[in-house]
Amino acid sequence: MEKINVGLLGCGTVGTGVAKILIENRELIASRVGAELVLKRIADIDIKKERGIVFDDGVFIKDAREIVSDPEIDIIVEMIGGKGIAKELILEAIENDKQVVTANKALIADHGNTLIKTAEAKGVDLAFEASVGGCIPIVKTIRESLVGDRIRSMTGILNGTCNYILTKIDDDGSTFKEALEQAQAIGFAEADPTLDIEGYDTAHKLAIISSLAYGMEINLEDIYIEGISRISSIDIECAKEFGFKIKLFAISKNRGGTVEARVHPAMISFDNLVSSVNGSMNAVEITGDAVGSMVLYGHGAGMMPTAGAVVSDIVDVARNLLSHVTGRIPILSCRSDKIRNIPVLPIDEIHTYYYFRFSVLDRAGVLAKIAGILGAYSISLKYVNQKGLRSNGSITIVMFTHLAKEADVKKALSEISALDVVTDIPVLIRIEDDLEEEEEAKKEERCI
Ligand code: HSE
Repeated sequence: MEKINVGLLGCGTVGTGVAKILIENRELIASRVGAELVLKRIADIDIKKERGIVFDDGVFIKDAREIVSDPEIDIIVEMIGGKGIAKELILEAIENDKQVVTANKALIADHGNTLIKTAEAKGVDLAFEASVGGCIPIVKTIRESLVGDRIRSMTGILNGTCNYILTKIDDDGSTFKEALEQAQAIGFAEADPTLDIEGYDTAHKLAIISSLAYGMEINLEDIYIEGISRISSIDIECAKEFGFKIKLFAISKNRGGTVEARVHPAMISFDNLVSSVNGSMNAVEITGDAVGSMVLYGHGAGMMPTAGAVVSDIVDVARNLLSHVTGRIPILSCRSDKIRNIPVLPIDEIHTYYYFRFSVLDRAGVLAKIAGILGAYSISLKYVNQKGLRSNGSITIVMFTHLAKEADVKKALSEISALDVVTDIPVLIRIEDDLEEEEEAKKEERCI
């Protein structure tokens, strides 16, 4: 049986999972591929660590460059992470005509355009299924299953750490800080959780799938990003009262000549399947002209789920090698000469629904003042609810709006914040409701 040699760069958590699958499922994979995938070399700074796997003697080395330039290695699997040495090694591997598999979302989101052009010019495969949504086959779904469809939108949960934290606050009333500490204690959240909780990790993933779905260059810098660190149990409780869950949402919409791409906490109706995705799970709803709506759900992180996605890429690439058809599927789905630079709609231009929470003094005319300012900016209210007195002498007023423009909302909230009766910074959470949005757009004859 033919052999295809794999070189693994980095044997941390996911790298170890990849090694485990390749070694323990060697015969199973060979029976499906028609060739043996041999894990020939592994580069890691710690070559002595006990990883619970029986490796062939001499597999481990310290110098990753030796693997990248080894003429016997066919596929390089980059599991180092970061944007420094990982990028250099991938470029060297491509230069040496190796096929490359990576799970490195930050690298693809930031430098993907360069890496992809280099790989396509060389005619090698560069695969990154595991960079988005862990085990969820979203890259393959967009690039292959939906290749004939026009994708209209992709919305969902792409960060398990944030979903775990929000679920914990919802379940037991933990504060954000307590929920984060719990996520760290059980190993979901990193010691420095900034990338996850401030939304950057989700934005990396959103940039990648938007590019795949709409045939545009990867465009991270124009994505609006807002994290979950200001979400409190008060807002989660208010949301629940009105039939919503709060999730850190990745939102990508094809608006014809522009694209909406944003990451922020959003209220999702209980009717939306994704609202019931809890704990560290991920889910994405994709809507296409032909397929309608479909939801992909699964583990978005973790050693074995992510490793499973990496191995699926290794197998795809191996099959292409066996058929001498590397470069068969354009890396960004669209042929490189058809990739366009589609602008991302600035956040101020979007229209959506809003939830506001105001802390105000309980005095005559306060509600009228707030409603007056909102009205002056054409922000129409759907529900208004006044909560009881709080310990600082303020009361809470909660409002839900009809469709409004973000720029108008910002101006209105800035004026409201300046009122002497307002005792705290107003809270704004966007509401994601595609069905209602379509209905309103029809009424206004506005194109969405
Ligand atoms: N830290 C991510 C998460 C997984 O919590 O989902 C890797 O992107």
